[in-house]
This record gives sequence, C-alpha cells and structure tokens, in this order.
Amino acid sequence: MVIKKLTLDNFRNYEHEDFVFDEGLNILTGKNAQGKTNCAEAVFYLCTGASLRIRHDKQLIRRGAEFARIAAETDSRFGKVKLEAVIFENKRELYLNGNKIRPVDFLGNMNSVFFSPGELRLIQDGPDERRRFLNLSISQTSRDYRVALSRYQRVLEQRNNLLKSSAYRFDAETLDVWDEQLAEYAARIVKKRREFLAVLSPLASSLHHSLTDGAEELSLCMDGSYPAEEEGIKEKLLREISASRERDLRLGFTTVGPHRDDIRVSINGQDARGYASQGQARTAALSMKLAETEIFRTLTGEAPILILDDVMSELDLPRRKRLLKGVKDLQCILTCTHAERVLYGVESRRIRIQNGKIVE
Ligand SMILES: Nc1ncnc2c1ncn2[C@@H]1O[C@H](COP(=O)(O)OP(=O)(O)OP(=O)(O)O)[C@@H](O)[C@H]1O
Ligand SMILES: [Mg+2]
Repeated sequence: MVIKKLTLDNFRNYEHEDFVFDEGLNILTGKNAQGKTNCAEAVFYLCTGASLRIRHDKQLIRRGAEFARIAAETDSRFGKVKLEAVIFENKRELYLNGNKIRPVDFLGNMNSVFFSPGELRLIQDGPDERRRFLNLSISQTSRDYRVALSRYQRVLEQRNNLLKSSAYRFDAETLDVWDEQLAEYAARIVKKRREFLAVLSPLASSLHHSLTDGAEELSLCMDGSYPAEEEGIKEKLLREISASRERDLRLGFTTVGPHRDDIRVSINGQDARGYASQGQARTAALSMKLAETEIFRTLTGEAPILILDDVMSELDLPRRKRLLKGVKDLQCILTCTHAERVLYGVESRRIRIQNGKIVE
C-alpha cells in the first residue's frame, strides 16, 4: 500500500499544496510550526476518518476558510484508489473514487500506523488510550468490527439513558431488550479484540526484545477471560450485565462491557503504567505500533503506511538505527526538524516545508 500523491486545500496551515511521495522513505523536514505534523495528520485522517489531536474536525479547516479538502491517490491491493475528504464546520463528505460514501465504508481503503512522541500515552495513560488503539487498529481492517462498534455505542447510549430515567419510570422489559443487544454487539467486539491481541502480543514482545537488545520483556494481555466462541462470550457478558443491573441502576450508567476493557501492559513482569520509565514506555509503545504494521501486512497482504512524527530525536542512536533498519520494506513518512545524521546517505525523498508550503 502506498500513497502516491496528497493534495491539501485549506487544511490547517496549508492553502493549497501537492505532495508526491516515494514508495520507500519520505522525510519531511522544516522548522517548528511549519506544517510537518499537519501533513502527516492529513494522511492519517484519510486512513481512519479521525483526527489525531482533536475531537472537532472544525479545527482542521484553515482559519478563515469555509472548508478543508484532503485528497489522495493510492496504489494498493484494490488497484489505484482515490480518496477524498471534504470537511465543513459541522459535517463532512467522504469520497471513494469520486463517489460519496459513508464513513463505515471509507475506513480501510488506506491503512496507516502513526507514531509520535505523544504515543507515550498508550502506556502511561488510562484505559481510554488503549481502547482507542484497539478500535482504530482493528477498524482499519475489519468492517464487521466497525459496524459492531458503532451499534454497540448506540445501544450503550440508549441503555444509559434508560438507566438514568429509571428513578422515576423503571421499564424492566426495555432494559432486557437493551441488555440482550448490548451483549450481542459486545461479544463481537470482545472476540475481535482478543484475536487481535493474541497476534499482536508475541509480535510486540519480539520487537521490544530486539529494540532493547534483549534487556526487556514486554507482555500484553486483555483484562478478564472469555470463552473463544462468540456465543459463549455473549452468554458470559449477558450474565455479567444482569449481575451488575442493580449497581448500574444506582449509578445511572453501564459498568460492564468492552467500553471498560483494558490491555494490561507489563515490562519485565511489572505493570508498565505504574513503573515504566519514559524511555521504556516509549520503546513499548513503538513496539506495539511496529507490531501493528506486521498485523496489517498479515491480514491484508500488504504493509500499511508508517508515519513517524518527530520520533528520531526521542530515541538513542542504536535504537534509531534499528528502527530505520526495520522500516525498509514499507512506505514511511518521517518528520523531523533537521535531517538527522543517522539519515544521511539513506535513500529517501526529502521534502522541506516552510510555512505551509513545500520549498524543496
Ligand atoms: N486551522 C488552522 N488554520 C491555520 N493554521 C493552523 C490551523 N491549525 C494549525 N495551524 C498552524 O499550523 C502550524 C504548523 O503546525 P504543525 O503541527 O504541522 O507544525 P510542525 O511542522 O509539525 O512543527 P513541530 O516541529 O513543532 O512539530 C502551527 O503554527 C499552527 O498554528
Ligand atoms: Mg510536529
């Protein structure tokens, strides 16, 4: 999978710009605040339909403009594909080869893995970040997962509303219906996440092992245990949901289910969240992301686009070298403030950005 061309109109600090990318390594350089991350973010947006840094698309529109447009030409297992997102203040339009499509069909046409210093959150923050990682990653390759997730979220919202209103009007029958539906979609999500982690975990461990030169053991596992089959998972979830009904009614929200899932990350047997140093956490997050590229490759038969935003300065020299070696056989978009010495002599396309414009 490669992105050949990216066109930005009124996106962030870009008025109009065309980027042409090589199949291998592409290095975006420029001083601070010139638009390197913005460019990387645009690529990521076309892959996931989501922004990296914000909740509201509005901020993606260049100040003073009415709408932003991101368009890309890609070459992948689907052949040549054109993707386009037009972002307005309160809505957006998504196009695949010129045809307007729904978000659920937009995702997965271009896959990417994004890594930036902020990815430390994956290890150090609460469960939200790790669920986000699972959702974004699995969603890119599984339409079933995307559908189950959006239905689950809808039912969860309805169940929570019902729980809140139960103080003055308790409706057990409707709650039974929501419980049943919640367990059904939850089971699909739980099954996929566990399958995903079963593949991710050994890959990430082995990458972490080599990035740390054998000094550290990384292990990842999901909280709780469930049967392997969807039917069994659903039954177990239904029992858990029923058992927590009284508590849920008291609290006014749903306290069990995949919206509370977490990945347990440990390094050398210790919980990484509480104990890992910055460098350990950074390397663990990087290992998880690189493992994700391998999963994409296995599932889709082609490597995703790897976006490395500002990571070179964060790693020591041996790790930088190992990282560069590891990314040779995929398309990589790498940003840095100046061409690092470790990058000298490495075959790549260099793009220099200044104030929202390509200058070289
Ligand atoms: N909606 C917007 N309209 C206009 N400018 C924006 C908008 N959103 C962000 N910017 C500007 O884009 C500029 C470049 O941001 P970007 O994050 O891409 O910088 P960068 O080149 O990655 O810098 P650094 O090296 O510091 O990470 C910032 O100065 C920011 O103010
Ligand atoms: Mg940046």
